[in-house]
Amino acid sequence: MPQTRPAPQTLRRADFPANFTFGVATSSYQIEGAAFEDGRGPSIWDTFCREPGRIRDGSRGDVACDHYHRWEADLDLIASLGVDAYRFSVAWPRVQPSGSGPVNAAGLDFYERLTDGLLARGVAPHVTLYHWDLPQPLQDAGGWTNRETAHRFAEYGAAVAGRLGSRVKSYATLNEPWCSSVLSYEIGEHAPGLQDRRLALAAAHGLLLGHGLALPEVRRLAPASQAGIVLNLGPQMPASDQPGDRAAARLADGRLNRWFLDPLLCGAYPQDVWDACGADVPEVREGDLALIAAPLDFLGVNYYSRGVLGAAGGSVPAGASVTDMGWEIYPQGLTDLLTRLKADYPTLPPVVITENGAAFADQLQGGQVHDPARVQYLQTHLEALRQALAAGVDVRGYFAWSLMDNFEWAYGYEKRFGLVYVDYPTQTRILKDSAHWYRQFLR
Ligand code: NOJ
Repeated sequence: MPQTRPAPQTLRRADFPANFTFGVATSSYQIEGAAFEDGRGPSIWDTFCREPGRIRDGSRGDVACDHYHRWEADLDLIASLGVDAYRFSVAWPRVQPSGSGPVNAAGLDFYERLTDGLLARGVAPHVTLYHWDLPQPLQDAGGWTNRETAHRFAEYGAAVAGRLGSRVKSYATLNEPWCSSVLSYEIGEHAPGLQDRRLALAAAHGLLLGHGLALPEVRRLAPASQAGIVLNLGPQMPASDQPGDRAAARLADGRLNRWFLDPLLCGAYPQDVWDACGADVPEVREGDLALIAAPLDFLGVNYYSRGVLGAAGGSVPAGASVTDMGWEIYPQGLTDLLTRLKADYPTLPPVVITENGAAFADQLQGGQVHDPARVQYLQTHLEALRQALAAGVDVRGYFAWSLMDNFEWAYGYEKRFGLVYVDYPTQTRILKDSAHWYRQFLR
């Protein structure tokens, strides 16, 4: 059976609730550039990109989309799409160049210009406080494995929320803590590039603690804003009914999904995963889990694909359609994930799909970019989302990843996720067919 059903051409915005939010998303290191301007300090990604072999095309985010200088035109571009909202992240090393101590007013000024510029264009600002660009001095002291980092994060969060306040519609503390712990400290594919499960589990706990400490600061300083967190989640399914495959899928689900969902929504780490991690489990102090489990206004969900697990590891089913990342295109997984969240977590807050999208090898031809596969990806996932709404899951918004092509971490600029094409040598932005489609859908 083909994994990509053709979308019903009838899918319309009117099929979603009237107050449903549609937006596009980006993050600071991936688009801003201006890596050493106006007092910005070094982040772990500045360091990591300079280590040979870390980034496939040898690139880094020094210039990226040069959004730091082109922000006004970029805000016009966002407004031209007709979206309700824009999700961006704040670079901690712009706001606090060394990760602690005095704030750099110029850094906060930039995000205030963005916030007010969005509001002036009728687009609601949604802020992520941490999208992976940790100030390097904090990494030198152990990064997220050091509990001090969590306390510094709460101070930084207070500086941002104190300046931007309730002008921002929502604050997400963290983006995808699985990536900033497992991918970064255990798999080694992201900064700081370590390979140690014990450190990854300590980092994950440090991140969750940072979330727990920052949340009350955001609530105090931006009382009218929504406060939450963004997780990357996906169903982890067994390749067969064999007990070995089922066990592998259950453990993969535990590490990717439940390791974060359970402490946030139930106040406890999942016992089966805890036991499986043996002596590598993190130190959890009295009171940590109560902080981590404080009620959320929303849970942000980034959905891209599912996992299919056999005893020998993950694989993509034969014949499945994949994106340029090699990720299986599996819209049904979004419906399954959302209905599962509702079934398994009675304390589930309203959900926002904070990222969904796909990379394809887009080509600029005669001033146009035809990306039918991305249009189909978006349509089929919106249809899957509609089915979850019909099943009673409380989902409030959907953000396409990404506004424009950008620095795709360890893949550099080789992977294009944008609805808008970026011609890097000239920094020209060209709407792909998917951007035209999204605009039409939103009209
Ligand atoms: C999730 C991350 O939040 C984002 O930074 C990344 O570019 C996309 N996934 C695509 O990999």
